[in-house]
Amino acid sequence: MGHRKMKVLVVGGGGREHALAWKIGQSPRIDRVFVAPGNAGTASESNLPIENVQIADSDIPKLVEFAKKNAIDLAVIGPEAPLAAGISDALVTAGIRVFGPSKQAAELEASKVFCKNLLRHADVPTADFRTFRDVESARAFLVDREDSAMVVKADGLAGGKGVIVCTNREEAIEAVERIGASKEFGEAGNQLVIEERLVGQEASILAITDGRSLVTMPAAQDHKPAHDGDKGPNTGGMGAYSPTPLVTEDMLRSIEAKVLVPTVHQLKRMRRPFKGVLYAGLMITKQGVKVLEYNARFGDPECQPLMMRLQSDLLDLLEATADERLEELPDLLWDPRPAVCVVMASEGYPGSYTTGHAIRGLAEAAAVAEAKVFHAGTALRDGQVITTGGRVLGVTALGSSIANAKLQAYTAVKCIRWEGAWCRTDISDKAQH
Ligand code: AMP
Ligand code: GLY
Repeated sequence: MGHRKMKVLVVGGGGREHALAWKIGQSPRIDRVFVAPGNAGTASESNLPIENVQIADSDIPKLVEFAKKNAIDLAVIGPEAPLAAGISDALVTAGIRVFGPSKQAAELEASKVFCKNLLRHADVPTADFRTFRDVESARAFLVDREDSAMVVKADGLAGGKGVIVCTNREEAIEAVERIGASKEFGEAGNQLVIEERLVGQEASILAITDGRSLVTMPAAQDHKPAHDGDKGPNTGGMGAYSPTPLVTEDMLRSIEAKVLVPTVHQLKRMRRPFKGVLYAGLMITKQGVKVLEYNARFGDPECQPLMMRLQSDLLDLLEATADERLEELPDLLWDPRPAVCVVMASEGYPGSYTTGHAIRGLAEAAAVAEAKVFHAGTALRDGQVITTGGRVLGVTALGSSIANAKLQAYTAVKCIRWEGAWCRTDISDKAQH
């Protein structure tokens, strides 16, 4: 390891990327963090060497060109779409080190058919399933089967929306039509997965792997439904907290041994070594822990509470992963205090919403003890922070207990106003039951 300070490019512009840039920016080894395209939060970190670059996270040729021109030492990829499109491969070919899986390894997230088959081969517990290439055979399968609760999934990326949870056969047949025939999620519906519906609590387990070794992070829990009490349509995630008492230390070790390690080894055997974040979406059922899905990146908003709690140098961790020397790294240090992140959203989200509303009270929120406001859908216009997306802010706080972290986060939320702003009021309550 040299002593030269590093230039890092973070690709993406959501709350996850703000949290990553904020944490990387605190490394003693950082020279500069560029965020493409970033948001008003990454543009306003005046005490950290962070700056935005006006390149979309989908524009791979421009990102590669920028990385070469600016002698980027490490590129960190936030979202799934550029990973699935092969951004890591393009950067590596151009001689840039990358934190984030290759296109082939990212298929674990980009194709649910690939993921389910891999889980089956690696003997990792998951819901019983069948895969289908056409609507007719999927429908025939449902008609022949006993009437039961099932889940129908589009194979490809659908922004978390391509999963339809059904209570009976009739609903499942309708879901097959929507995904496979009406192509509600476009090409993502070219193949289908139909699986048994599992019952239990969900948890997110994120691990960093360089393809050989694995470092598991503390358990987190997301809140996907839009409204309190897990009601309403699914969203990208309305809040998260970590750690969660739902996953005990023993369970975490067992998840490592029975889920994460076999997955990493199977990918390696398939010559698709995985470098980056392996994110297991799990259901804790009466029959044990089962994998619902894998993501090939940090979760958003799970990343925000995790970055609040991480005490080790994130840059060391990301660089060691890119260099395949994760096993040399000392154990990660975590703040023992829990962190809670409350997402503030635009009126109408996850449906249609308007943007361009001025956000007030950010300075007051920043003054709340142990709180940090991560931006997601925001931009600067004439020196003012305005809304530009559905999920706008991730208001995150540490506390002596989960209840205390929740209180601090909502204290900061109360300072912030814009026309139509709303949030769930029960983030982290599942931890208390
Ligand atoms: P996925 O994108 O596969 O994680 O699915 C999105 C959401 O759908 C999950 O967070 C679960 O709430 C739900 N889900 C997916 N698969 C199942 C299943 N087999 N049983 C019950 N719920 C599921
Ligand atoms: N929070 C869920 C996700 O990032 O996919």
